[in-house]
Formats: sequence, C-alpha cells, structure tokens
Amino acid sequence: MYKILVEGGHRLSGEVRVSGAKNAALPILAAGLLAPGRSVFENVPDLKDVKTFLKVLEHLGASCSFQDHAASVDAACCEPNEAPYDLVRTMRASVLVLGPLVARCGRARVSLPGGCAIGARPIDLHLKGLEALGAKVSLAHGYVEVTAGRLAGADIYLDMPTVTGTENLMMAAALAKGVTTLRNAAREPEIAALADVLNLMGARVSGAGTAVVTVEGAETLSPARYTVIPDRIETGTYMAAAALTRGDVTLTAARPDHLDAVISKMRSAGVGIETAGDSIRVKGPERIRSVDLTTAPHPGFPTDMQAQFMVMMCVADGNSVMNETIFENRFIHVSELRRLGADITVTGNTAVVRGVPRLLGAPVMASDLRASASLILAGLVASGVTEVHRVYHLDRGYEAIEKKLTALGAVISRVWED
Ligand code: EPU
Repeated sequence: MYKILVEGGHRLSGEVRVSGAKNAALPILAAGLLAPGRSVFENVPDLKDVKTFLKVLEHLGASCSFQDHAASVDAACCEPNEAPYDLVRTMRASVLVLGPLVARCGRARVSLPGGCAIGARPIDLHLKGLEALGAKVSLAHGYVEVTAGRLAGADIYLDMPTVTGTENLMMAAALAKGVTTLRNAAREPEIAALADVLNLMGARVSGAGTAVVTVEGAETLSPARYTVIPDRIETGTYMAAAALTRGDVTLTAARPDHLDAVISKMRSAGVGIETAGDSIRVKGPERIRSVDLTTAPHPGFPTDMQAQFMVMMCVADGNSVMNETIFENRFIHVSELRRLGADITVTGNTAVVRGVPRLLGAPVMASDLRASASLILAGLVASGVTEVHRVYHLDRGYEAIEKKLTALGAVISRVWED
C-alpha cells in the first residue's frame, strides 16, 4: 500500500489546471447506456473511480475505451447483466446504472451498495422513483432487481434532493413514455451537465439546476459527444491549499460560478479571491479568520468541501462552529486532525474548531476521499513531515495530486509501504 509524505511549510504559487469533474463524469458515462452506438465524452478525469465505472459498464455489455481523457461508451446492444458486488462495493456510484439499464433493457440487477465510512447512504428514493415510473423493484440476496416494460412518465417528489437519485431518475425518464416531473430535485451543477448530455441524445430536459426538473422522454436516444465540466471540489481543494500556505495560486479551466458558496466563505475567512472567465486567483492571508459554516445541498456549502475547510479553521484566528447536515458520519477526519495538534470538539453533527497557531506533522490515516484530501492539506501547513496512510481513497477522486502540488512548490512524495 502507498503512503504519502508531505513536508509542511512551503508556500504554494503558480498555476494549476482543474481536471474534469468525477461526479459529473460518472452519471454521464452511465447515460452512454441509453443509446445504441458510441458516445464520446471528453475531459473525463483519469481516476480510479472512472476506471472502475467503465469496468461496470463493460460488465453490462458496453464496449468502453479510455485514452487521453476521452472515454467512449459503445452500448450497441444492451445486456441486462448484473453489476456485481465486487465492483459495486468499491464504488457506490455504480448504482447509477439502474435508471438507464431498466429504461433501455427492461431489467437491471445491481448489488445493493452498503453503507460507507461517511454514512448509511440508502437508495430508497432512487427505488421509489423508479417504481413511480412503473418499474417493479425487489431486493434479494444483497441485490436490487428492477424490471419494467416501457417506463411511463410520472410526477415524483423526492423527500431529499438526492444527487445520484435525481440523476438516476432523469436517465430513466429520458426513455419513458410521456413527461416526468422531479420535484425537490438536486440542483448541483452535475445535474445540469447530465441534462445537457440527455438533451444532446434527444431527450427534452428542462429546469435542471432548479428544484423542478422536467423530462420529456424519447422512444430512442442517439449517442452523443460531450465535454465534462470542471471539478468544483478539486478546485475548492486547491483553493484551500493556497489559502493555508499563504500562497498565490491561479486555477485555470475552472468554473467560478459553480463555487459561489465556497468563494464567499473563503472571502469571509480573509482569503483574497479574484475570478476572471475560467480562472480563479487565490491569495492566502497572513492568518486565516475563523468563520462558521453549515453544509447544505447546492447552492449551499458543499459537504464535499467540509473537511478541507475544517483544516483552514484549525489554523485560523478564533473559533468556528461547523455543522454537517448531509451525512451523519462525516467528521472522521477530526480524530486524525487532532493527532496533528488541532483543537476540535464534536457533538452530534456539530464541530467546534478552536484555531491554533500551528499544526505538527504526524502519521495519520485517511478514511474516505475528502478526508484524505484534508489530511494532505493539513500536511502542507504542519511543521515537519505528515505521513498519510491508506491513500487509495485519494486516487478515487484527485487526478495527479502529487504532481499538481509539486508543480506549485509543495514537497510531497508517494512511497510504498508493506
Ligand atoms: N439519501 C436518502 N435516500 C436516498 C438517497 C439519499 O436518504 O435514496 C440521503 C443520503 O443518505 C444523504 C442525503 O440523502 O444523507 C444526500 O445524499 P445524496 O444522495 O445526494 O448523495 P449521493 O448522490 O450518494 C453525491 C456525490 C457525493 C456527495 C453527495 C452530496 C456522486 C457520485 N457522489 O452522493 O460525493 O457527497 O452527492 O453532495 O455524485 C465525493 O465525491 O466524495 C462524494 C461523496
């Protein structure tokens, strides 16, 4: 297994190009299953999750390739094969094949994703929505099986604005007969990106990015070519790295308009941020100021940036109250940050972070993707060396992170440990 060593105390400066968004790429690759023929998606990040997802699609009968950030999904014929436990357990997002598969082939069988480190993460809303579209859902032997004739449009209210749930139902509705209205839909930029792809394929999706999404289904869809949007969470993570190291970093190929809440909070924390077109220049202050924070569905502050922002608060001047409202167990990084000298207390879904003048490097263990990113960030400011173990989580979601950070002046390396 690899570990990452970060030597703290180096100021970051220069330019870094943002990669394509993992959480936009995965549903878009799944949408490839909806049309007979070869869809090509560009700016797909070179990540473990992407490769695993392509394996899932191949398992379902699609021919896939991935080269130079272009992924092709050729779903000439669609076999209602199953997405097995071994693949699904490593990546919950595999559940995104349910909607397109049942819509196109009339049957989908996917291993039920279990809970994960950050919470129980049920998929009841995905399944309720598919039932509303006319599918039959059954659970047996750890698998969810969904069968249907042609799906029929329906009016669906989501109890929670679930991101992958909204995506699954949009894809299913794209081949349903008639109009589907999704109410209390997720409003993340990744939803709008998927709507763009479905529209290119011949569906008629409107309202994506608002709480009410309407999908007029088509009898058949055609393959599409599409360029994936930039990763807003990767962007935010490098913004935090610049802020923490009193750096001066410009992010290119970014979408500042997808980061309103993050930019606003960082400015309140004293971070200098200038945006121009697709670039964001971030200048870290002498000392970060404490600010309070509550995560919320988009356009609120993203839960996927909570751990990274917490590191900023660990070394800020003052106390910060941070509320996590999306996942019930997303403070696992706290105990690791404490090992570096952070002063944090957690009660339920609230963390109180008392800023300390400095962190001290130590060995720490990564527990999930964003927690891993937060430990790397902490390593950038901690004095001495921080050893981050179990970094395979990081490779699921951050493309070439050591290379990108090294180019900005960080001292970071990956070493093999038995
Ligand atoms: N929920 C239910 N029932 C459902 C679906 C969701 O109760 O049927 C609950 C969840 O348990 C959670 C809340 O609704 O408490 C929101 O979960 P959501 O379904 O929106 O999360 P997701 O779709 O599973 C996506 C991202 C996550 C990101 C969340 C929240 C992808 C592939 N994953 O997950 O990304 O944290 O939305 O924004 O898009 C990450 O990239 O590190 C990551 C975890």
